[in-house]
Amino acid sequence: MSRKIFVTCALPYANGSIHLGHMLEHIQADIWVRYQRLKGNQIYFVCADDTHGTPIMIKSKQLGITPEEMLKAVAVEHKQDFDGFEISFDNYYSTHSEENRFFSNSIYKKLKERGYIASRTISQLFDPEKKMFLPDRFVKGTCPKCKAPDQYGDNCEVCGATYSPTELLNPYSAVSGAKPELKQTEHFFFDLPQFEPVLKDWIKTGAIPEEMANKLNEWFEAGLQQWDITRDAPYFGFEIPDQPGKYFYVWLDAPIGYFGSFKNYCDRVKNVDFDEFTSTGSNCEMYHFIGKDILYFHSLFWPAMLSGAGYRMPTKLFIHGYVTVNGAKMSKSKGTFIKAATFLKHFPAETLRYYYAAKSNAKIDDLDLNLEDFIARVNSDLVNKVVNLASRTANFITRKFAGRLAPSLTEDQIFGEFRNATASIENAYENREYARAVREIMRLADLANKYVDDTAPWVLAKDPSKDAELHQVCTNALNMFKILLTYLKPIIPSLVKASEDFLGVTLNWNEACDPLTDREINPFKPLFKRIEQKQVDEMIKESKEDLAKAAPKAPAKEAGDEPLAPQITIDDFAKIDLRVAKIVNAEHVEGAEKLLKLELDLGFEQRHVFAGIKSAYKPEDLIGRLTVMVANLAPRKMKFGMSEGMVCAAGPGGKDIFLLTPDSGAKPGMRIH
Ligand code: MSP
Ligand code: ZN
Repeated sequence: MSRKIFVTCALPYANGSIHLGHMLEHIQADIWVRYQRLKGNQIYFVCADDTHGTPIMIKSKQLGITPEEMLKAVAVEHKQDFDGFEISFDNYYSTHSEENRFFSNSIYKKLKERGYIASRTISQLFDPEKKMFLPDRFVKGTCPKCKAPDQYGDNCEVCGATYSPTELLNPYSAVSGAKPELKQTEHFFFDLPQFEPVLKDWIKTGAIPEEMANKLNEWFEAGLQQWDITRDAPYFGFEIPDQPGKYFYVWLDAPIGYFGSFKNYCDRVKNVDFDEFTSTGSNCEMYHFIGKDILYFHSLFWPAMLSGAGYRMPTKLFIHGYVTVNGAKMSKSKGTFIKAATFLKHFPAETLRYYYAAKSNAKIDDLDLNLEDFIARVNSDLVNKVVNLASRTANFITRKFAGRLAPSLTEDQIFGEFRNATASIENAYENREYARAVREIMRLADLANKYVDDTAPWVLAKDPSKDAELHQVCTNALNMFKILLTYLKPIIPSLVKASEDFLGVTLNWNEACDPLTDREINPFKPLFKRIEQKQVDEMIKESKEDLAKAAPKAPAKEAGDEPLAPQITIDDFAKIDLRVAKIVNAEHVEGAEKLLKLELDLGFEQRHVFAGIKSAYKPEDLIGRLTVMVANLAPRKMKFGMSEGMVCAAGPGGKDIFLLTPDSGAKPGMRIH
């Protein structure tokens, strides 16, 4: 009986590009899905863009387009990336869809009817300028613990402390810079604590890998908390039914998006029954591939919501760790934050698919993409061991035997080894221990290559009396090649496709070891090129350049990506009156970590301005020099006094802030156009 399986990958956020970190999850899932399909199981693999939330709202505003317009463009880009890596989704959809709205509303209503939703008034930081409540990541300020400036509202990147945004010192809104105020608002909460027994039972079924059990115990011991599922307008998401101005928090509708995407698929293809897969008591399996960072949402909120609303719970979560590159976190400045699209410009998808597979076990450890090892591994395995097997033997068949394979196989012992390996390779794929599958397949490849080395067809070819032997050796070797490629089919589908064209057969799992004899094959064309360090260098270089011309990013996950302000016209720009000013005095400000107080002479009047340039300049070095200031900026009251304008400076910060203007010819008060 074939199994019925529903599989998802986590839904990538629609405010950024797909990178090699995301690809680990999608490649791991795709290998599993392709394996199940080859085994004849009925499996459906869906994903979608995760489209809601404040970062997406703000980013589209910065780009001067509607969120919907932005989503469209991103969806095209994401789809291209996944196609490029041959991720074989049955459906790639969006959480901003009617199906998802329907399930979000109906699940919410069921939870409410059953007493799992409570309402409470809370106080939250509010940006008085933008008239919006601020998510934790959009409040910045000084860390209450180590006093590092410019930290996010939820944790400090310098000392690692976690806190609530109201504890930040000198908090400011990352959206407008205004000082946030505490304001009351009514929110709805999902009563997670009621689900503790249900969740504990679910975990006992083996839904979560053993190694995560401790983490979950910690969460249970700390006590489950009610979950705030509300966000106030302005918000990009689904408005809560009968609650104008209140929206579902993005993490409520995101996992429901798994159902939205699957329902969209079922409605389109018509012969797959959505309810059969999702009702309680379903005999179908349901799996989510996710990264360790989103375990909380998938091991607590999502199964609890499903159970509360009368759906089945997931069979298992398949959890992976993080991708590092050359032993370190992917880094934009090092050029190791590599986008999927950038990778594909320099390498075929198979190379990464193979490398990730060769290093994937079913554990939650991080996986290091070591670029030197990547080249070595791909060349030694895919080129030297696999492709060469065909390139060393195929031409003899074409040239000497009219492209026809010998009538039968010999070498029973080697083929016996190949056949005996099937069970353990299957077991490795099924359990997502792809490294083990690859090891096993490469062991067989070594046997095959040794066979070719020992029989030396290029020597046999020199002696016409050895033709029959040559024919047999090459036929045997190509059959070994055929079995290896069948075993590798879930991992490197397009290399297998090219080999199928060459062999003139479709490689089916259940016929992996059936002999291919007494039939014609096509002339051999090079299937795969060796990869080189130069390609890596170019890819890293391009990734660094990407950074330089990076599109504006919302301050979501990557620290240091400052959001771009809304677009302005040339008329807006002309409103800014930039003037040359002479720094007549500069001094430290007591208690301020970054500021200097400058006294600026415009020729016609003098101004006091506070500037965050202390890291780069000593006050005494500034006195008497010229700078450029925004002279018509409305005075602002700052913590240390009034600031009557602003100086212009460029540079990445720290010691590199460039404030000064050459003295030649410029006079205080001159306007700059
Ligand atoms: N939108 C949420 C998921 C919602 S699922 C209902 C999200 N998106 S994400 O784009 O940040 O991440 C998508 C997936 O990619 C997650 O499973 C995450 O763990 C994974 N990865 C993101 N960066 C990664 C690495 N550097 N390495 C490995 N996986 C990574 O979270
Ligand atoms: Zn700190």
